[in-house]
Amino acid sequence: MECVQEGTIAGMATPAMTATRQYWLTGASSGIGRELALLLARQGHTVYVSARSLPALQALAANYPQLLLPLACDVSNDQQMEQVFDCLSEPPLWLDGIILGAGICEYIDVPALDGGSMRRVMDANYFGVVNACRVALPLLQAARMRDPSRKPEIIGIGSMSSYTGFARAEAYGSSKAAMSYFLQSLRCDLQNEIAVTVVYPGFVATPMTAQNDFNMPFMVSATQAARCIADNMGKAKLSIHFPWQLHLLLKLATWLPGLWYGRIAILLGRRDKAG
Ligand SMILES: NC(=O)c1ccc[n+]([C@@H]2O[C@H](COP(=O)([O-])OP(=O)(O)OC[C@H]3O[C@@H](n4cnc5c(N)ncnc54)[C@H](OP(=O)(O)O)[C@@H]3O)[C@@H](O)[C@H]2O)c1
Repeated sequence: MECVQEGTIAGMATPAMTATRQYWLTGASSGIGRELALLLARQGHTVYVSARSLPALQALAANYPQLLLPLACDVSNDQQMEQVFDCLSEPPLWLDGIILGAGICEYIDVPALDGGSMRRVMDANYFGVVNACRVALPLLQAARMRDPSRKPEIIGIGSMSSYTGFARAEAYGSSKAAMSYFLQSLRCDLQNEIAVTVVYPGFVATPMTAQNDFNMPFMVSATQAARCIADNMGKAKLSIHFPWQLHLLLKLATWLPGLWYGRIAILLGRRDKAG
């Protein structure tokens, strides 16, 4: 599968990933995050793997006990996140990168705008990213001090759902648009020190999409998604999009909003409800 990548900030390209690195990956217990954790460990990197379920993290870590280090946390819990590394006997002194994969998806059924659902999704997908960045930033800066030739990186897993409006995505799409903007803004403030990449996947076969009862065109496997992200790490990419077919179609939708909102989005919405 080919990925679409956009832009590299001038002078920010980092060397190919030869040396082993130290990452923190949230959302590691299943789906894309799990595959990415295994891939990075296979390459010899150390990964602090986070999710709420400790047993799932322990089962994952059993594959590479020296390299995958379980760190259970709820990214939406502000207090817990402030002390997230305190439970480790040897907390990391630096991080070469953080991969923000923790996320949930809940669909909204208008006209009942479920405030609880909107808040839960925003808490996990947006405030979870903010919380993890707050913890990681000093450790990323420590990595920069440790090796000024290398840019530490923040990689946020967004979604193509933030390109344009989708039926029933009032919670999920908004949270991904918010996290994407947050990271792009952070990039402006950090660009000389830390690379910030936003990943925009289309549909990926994971437990998250297993709940969907509608057509998911150009769906890719979690392994393909993880490979696409891993292949572009260390390159200071502004964004990564896959699969390219859905990326192009949805970009076209943003250029033709009358057609999208007047016809296609309505048809897709009807299909969901009929599902
Ligand atoms: N699958 C797709 O089609 C697709 C498309 C675009 C973007 N994405 C994004 O890709 C990322 C990974 O999704 P996935 O498809 O791999 O889904 P998944 O299999 O459901 O994995 C979600 C991961 O996030 C963790 N998580 C959820 N809420 C959390 C919280 N509050 N604190 C800590 N960890 C939390 C889950 O573990 P616990 O439940 O144990 O906490 C799990 O490890 C998500 O951000 C998702 O929005 C997915």
